Amino acid sequence: MASCGVLALGACARFHYVQSGLEEGAIVVLKRDLADRDGVLVEHPSLAFPVFLAHAGNGEYTAVLTRCMHRGCTVEPADGHLVCPCHGSEYSKSGAVLKGPTEQPLIPFPVRVEGDRILILDTQKAPQ
Ligand code: FES
Repeated sequence: MASCGVLALGACARFHYVQSGLEEGAIVVLKRDLADRDGVLVEHPSLAFPVFLAHAGNGEYTAVLTRCMHRGCTVEPADGHLVCPCHGSEYSKSGAVLKGPTEQPLIPFPVRVEGDRILILDTQKAPQ
């Protein structure tokens, strides 16, 4: 798994990671962390892969696991979508397949907004 801690910016400077917390099973991110970005990567010790959290318009958000559904590499943000560095699959920021070899979309998570916080739900169901 390609992974960078929030403070380990040297190897991960081209991707933006945000801090998250865990409350009652939901991963919590502050809205302000996405204020000037289309999407961010969210890491948490409970996840084997980061979650890509992105604006979906109208104050809503999408969250997908960055585990490629082809053979399990970690997909990376690139110009408004997600790209797998292993064999070139591409996904929309909401996880839809744009280009193979993958045939399945990324695993999505429900998202709920509560005030200035974004809650990513059901991540305990993510494959490890
Ligand atoms: Fe992602 Fe093959 S593992 S395209």
